[in-house]
Amino acid sequence: MSLQSNANRPARYAAIIVALVAATSALAESATPKGPAEGTAGVERYVREMWASSDAKWKDRLKQDETQVLCSRFRNNPPEPLAQSIQTREAATIVFPKDNQVLGRWQEGEKLAQNGRGGQFSDAPDTVNGGNCYACHQMAKSELSFGTLGPSLSEYGKIRNFSAEAARDTFAKIYNSQATLACSSMPRFGAHGFLTEQQIKDVVAYLFDPDSPINK
Ligand code: HEC
Repeated sequence: MSLQSNANRPARYAAIIVALVAATSALAESATPKGPAEGTAGVERYVREMWASSDAKWKDRLKQDETQVLCSRFRNNPPEPLAQSIQTREAATIVFPKDNQVLGRWQEGEKLAQNGRGGQFSDAPDTVNGGNCYACHQMAKSELSFGTLGPSLSEYGKIRNFSAEAARDTFAKIYNSQATLACSSMPRFGAHGFLTEQQIKDVVAYLFDPDSPINK
């Protein structure tokens, strides 16, 4: 083989990969059911079959609530009036702390943001659920490993001048992400009881305390 063709090899491989990716996504497209309703029914049946032998507690988790049914049907892109009604329904689930104090301890919030445990069938019964925020967000700049599905939350409180109102909105966002964005891919932590009120307060403090690594 000549030097010339060796030099072209990476380019050729790239071309083959591009062609393969195009072919695969064309296949996936043709396999995608046409109507949204038909598609979700098929997926739901498949998921139910996967968990056929699990106990009732786990089977219950397969039942979609009204919002999830709609988000599946519209592939997370509901038409505007529907998006509004989802947000209104989800906002109604938010319970603010009785004393209106939304800031807990940032040190606890940091642990919680880094903790991805909970909600798995292999968990011990006394497992404390984590928020797994780093799976989707950049938070403290000193942390090198983070997901990018959600926006960066670095300097979150500082950028908002540590405003009490912004902290309250953030408590609401974490409690139920869909109150402000229908079909958000961020979990509805408080509405599902996955995190407790105290845990949400701690993570709000992690975002809003001037001493938190988030704001350094
Ligand atoms: C599965 C991914 C995922 C996880 C886990 C997650 N988020 Fe999010 N988050 C998102 C996405 C996507 C958005 C942007 C869409 C939206 O606003 O709902 C978002 C938005 C936000 C916002 C609003 C940002 C803005 O634009 O002002 C805050 C605050 C936030 N997340 C905090 C958290 C905290 C705290 C945790 C952990 C308790 C967390 N998130 C866990 C995906 C996630």
